Amino acid sequence: MNYIGSKHKLGDFIKSTVKGVVSEDLSQMVFCDLFAGTGRVGRNFKTSVKSVIANDVEYYSYVLLKNYIENYQQLDIEYFLSELNKLKGEPGFISEQYSENGKGNRLYFSEGNGRKIDAIRRKIESWRLSEQILEDQYFYLLASLLESADKVANTASVYGAFLKKVKLSARKELKLKPAKFEFTENSHKVFQQDANLLIKEIKGDILYLDPPYNARQYGANYHILNTIAKYDTFAPQGKTGLRDYYRSNYCKRGGVVNSFKDLLENANFRYIFFSYNNEGLLPSEEIKKIMSCFGKYDLVTKNYQRFKADKSKNRNHTANKTIEYLHILEKI
Ligand SMILES: C[S@@+](CC[C@H](N)C(=O)[O-])C[C@H]1O[C@@H](n2cnc3c(N)ncnc32)[C@H](O)[C@@H]1O
Repeated sequence: MNYIGSKHKLGDFIKSTVKGVVSEDLSQMVFCDLFAGTGRVGRNFKTSVKSVIANDVEYYSYVLLKNYIENYQQLDIEYFLSELNKLKGEPGFISEQYSENGKGNRLYFSEGNGRKIDAIRRKIESWRLSEQILEDQYFYLLASLLESADKVANTASVYGAFLKKVKLSARKELKLKPAKFEFTENSHKVFQQDANLLIKEIKGDILYLDPPYNARQYGANYHILNTIAKYDTFAPQGKTGLRDYYRSNYCKRGGVVNSFKDLLENANFRYIFFSYNNEGLLPSEEIKKIMSCFGKYDLVTKNYQRFKADKSKNRNHTANKTIEYLHILEKI
């Protein structure tokens, strides 16, 4: 998934830094990805550690994490995927409110794909209600739907706006691709909570922190994914059909410092790794000052080519060089 702040491309950098600081062998460690988003970082550690704790405050992310992190053993899924892929589209909330020719007049999906999303989403729910599928299969199928719907979304990158015309990739028919996860011997745990509350209830060895670094709220930028995941009814607001959304303190200049201090203070983890970049609300010097109050501080950096959506050219991207910082704290 094309996700703001995704650490997909930084996986090796993060893992090798963690190993260099903690140990080459992480097999007895509990690793926590507290602002997990797409779950990329936790997924990258899942097979190397004893167990992963993953959390994000957004429901669409919780769905992805329930599948990619918490699912850990083979599932009986082929039949259900193939049945879903055979479904014909039908009218529903997504096609009416967020698709071409819908009464909401919002062009997030082609008409056909909006109707397919409705049909698939309903079927998954009915299987769950009739207990034909269990929780692990439910989240696998839902994660597959979120990933596959995102692939055919008619946006420049995020869901803060839709394009005026349905672009070529959004015209392609939605195919449900399996959201495959890694198998492990041990189990893992996933939460959907505010990080500053959850931190008081968990403990482990390695804490990875990747909060938002600017004012862009994830709940607003990915509202359509929450709507598909929850499939509830509400009155869509304004041109983009926004729903009520969670406003994170990490996106507020006036809230981020205290939240960050509070998080470090309450963390029951020896090693803390904090990803941030040079365009963030918190300057590096301030991070260093805060983290140093709690133990031994270190910093590693990596030049990184990020891609920014260029709205004028419909999902063409312009390269944008940023520096990714990994601040390290050994808590004492
Ligand atoms: C930079 S993204 C994480 C990206 C992730 N590492 C990845 O590779 O996909 C930040 C995440 O923090 C979540 N978030 C924001 N405020 C939060 C809070 N107070 N508690 C928990 N999660 C929060 C957002 O929903 C978002 O998914």
